[in-house]
Amino acid sequence: MKSINGIPQIGFGTWRRRDDEAYQTVLAALEAGYRHIDTAQAYGNEAEVGRALSVSGLKPDDVFVTTKVWIDNYGEDAFRRSVEESREKLGRDKVDLLLLHWPGRADGPSFEDYIGRLAEVYDDGLAARIGVSNFTRTLMDKAADLLGGRKIAANQVECHVFHQNRLVADYCDKNGIAFTAYSPLAQGKIADDPVLKAIGEAHDVSEGEIALAFLMAEGHVVIPTSSKPERVRSNLAAAEIVLSDDEIKRLRGLDKGLRLISPDWAPDWD
Ligand SMILES: NC(=O)c1ccc[n+]([C@@H]2O[C@H](COP(=O)([O-])OP(=O)(O)OC[C@H]3O[C@@H](n4cnc5c(N)ncnc54)[C@H](OP(=O)(O)O)[C@@H]3O)[C@@H](O)[C@H]2O)c1
Repeated sequence: MKSINGIPQIGFGTWRRRDDEAYQTVLAALEAGYRHIDTAQAYGNEAEVGRALSVSGLKPDDVFVTTKVWIDNYGEDAFRRSVEESREKLGRDKVDLLLLHWPGRADGPSFEDYIGRLAEVYDDGLAARIGVSNFTRTLMDKAADLLGGRKIAANQVECHVFHQNRLVADYCDKNGIAFTAYSPLAQGKIADDPVLKAIGEAHDVSEGEIALAFLMAEGHVVIPTSSKPERVRSNLAAAEIVLSDDEIKRLRGLDKGLRLISPDWAPDWD
């Protein structure tokens, strides 16, 4: 499996998977061959992810785990305490990749303070890599200045065929930051698109697999999720699909700026 900044190019997403369903789907994903799991404090499933990791029998070095600090935990005491709790729930001494889930709220701790807290937990060895999520180019610039020599390993942002997020992707490419595409299947909206369907037919695969193969061909990390074992497997197999230059050109043409996730605390998007 190709990796970018040490991050396996395809991972299994876990948003909205709770309780036993989280445990079962993560275990199934590990059994299917995923070696990268994406979770977050806000998903409320880190303990179930940790249990699946432990039951899988795989060694910590064999599975890459990302978690994210929730914005309500950006304060002085909560930040470190929440990361320690995440480590404990996940059963890891070190999180492979620790992200800030969103830029902080306007009335919360200052940007300088919570970036400083991210730097501190990194310096103290709680995370092997640090990064951000839902950050704009301006915010990545500001964070990089404050982090000094510490590398921003990834920015995790919405990206799929209908919202290709080019400005942020190009910035990440130029600055050596892995661009992780969340909601890479546009939350299922890729089904029945005629271009994806036609290219899928040519490769004898589904629209979803083509949607993922395209993002990987663009050099992005992808973190799809599915509750269906067959899709869990076929989404992983998308890493093997090789698209032609003409197919990539047609898929680039599907971009229509369709943003699916923009809560009221979102930044001014690029
Ligand atoms: N950092 C952030 O702020 C942030 C925000 C959103 C998401 N994320 C991460 O990104 C992950 C993925 O994003 P997401 O959960 O929003 O959505 P997604 O992966 O784009 O889409 C999941 C949906 O697509 C369907 N699906 C899965 N495989 C398919 C296929 N091959 N063909 C057609 N439909 C398919 C699934 O239905 P079935 O279950 O029926 O298969 C599910 O409804 C999350 O789980 C989370 O880890 C991060």
